Amino acid sequence: MNVESFFPENIKTPLKNDPPGEWMPTLPDKCIRLSSGFPAPTLVPVEQLKAAVISLLEEEQDLPLHYVGSPKVAKLKEQIQEMLLEYNIRVSGDELLITSGACQAIDLVARILIDDSTIIVIEAPTYMEALEVFQNYTKHFISIPIDEHGLQTKVLEEVLEERKKKGLTLPRLLYTIPTFQNPTGTTMSTERRKHVMKLAANYNFLILEDDAYRELFFDKPSIPLKAMEREGRVLYVGSLSKVVTTGMRIGWVAATPEFITALAWFKKDLGHPFAQATMASFLENTDMETRLNFLRDTYKAKCEVLISALERYLPKSVSWYIPEGGYFVWLNIAGVDTSQLLTEALSEGVSYVPGEYFFLNRQDGKEFLRLSFSYANQQDIVEGIQKLGNVIK
Ligand SMILES: Cc1ncc(COP(=O)(O)O)c(C=O)c1O
Repeated sequence: MNVESFFPENIKTPLKNDPPGEWMPTLPDKCIRLSSGFPAPTLVPVEQLKAAVISLLEEEQDLPLHYVGSPKVAKLKEQIQEMLLEYNIRVSGDELLITSGACQAIDLVARILIDDSTIIVIEAPTYMEALEVFQNYTKHFISIPIDEHGLQTKVLEEVLEERKKKGLTLPRLLYTIPTFQNPTGTTMSTERRKHVMKLAANYNFLILEDDAYRELFFDKPSIPLKAMEREGRVLYVGSLSKVVTTGMRIGWVAATPEFITALAWFKKDLGHPFAQATMASFLENTDMETRLNFLRDTYKAKCEVLISALERYLPKSVSWYIPEGGYFVWLNIAGVDTSQLLTEALSEGVSYVPGEYFFLNRQDGKEFLRLSFSYANQQDIVEGIQKLGNVIK
């Protein structure tokens, strides 16, 4: 049987791309994981989640185990609304959709806004999973470079102006991670945030703001794009993956009711009432401010250790941006193909993600790599960077 012949064109085309998750290195035993962009096992609140499950089932019996029924599902929505208020994002119930992590939120936004003729603006580099999602829907991208102040909005303006002059189609959507970006760790300056909002209004595009790391600031939070607008151009995506746990898959989209209706229309997985109710129960019984402050201090300390190890063990030809929060440090190693170097690094016992996977045009990322300080402990971070230094030299 010719299986491929059954696939329609909109499925056949993306299946020709590289397979999802190709970027993830296969790690040897005892490898120091500077590639893993998720929390160390010690930072997962296992005991508190165990207590949340027990108290939920004692209180509600079978209710959270049905399609619908647990009042805690609605409670979680209120809790997320309250969290958003802290960032000056005021949304009503019909402006918020809980999703299966930020990943599903991105996929749903792509589903309702993108067809194979849509042009999307992405940051270069950008979060590779989002890139994979968008490539499932369109081939038309405009990549705008990032520097230490985030998206280069002047370059974006020039590109848009040029397209307008030439009568070319303008993009419908910009995907941006303005705060503690994955993979560069950079944060968009306030000036550029204002500029990008102005461009969105002038050139009539929407913004998909991915704010997965916003809580993990070292010293001060930044203002989300969503909090800077009234018009409804920003579809705001968030997640509890980085501050509670990745496996419960709790994320959201905050947007105007018309967008939320469309997103909910196509969200056919019926949600995860048990995970959502457990999360609500966890949040009810957790002092999140204390937890967040603990995580901020922990990641800040790990990042400082990583940066001083880079200064100590890496040759002068290597450069990086200093992050103000999040999980990542982005390295530029002039003259080195970081994908080739990975084999050596893995055999030395340290992992990272080669830069090429974060670019649409892979070649642009050859001399970069992403390090994460979220998973490894401080001692391992130092040892890992020492190993990386040996391999680069
Ligand atoms: C920028 C960004 N957005 C979204 C996600 C995915 O978050 P979730 O686990 O909520 O799907 C990640 C995870 O690495 C990320 O780095």
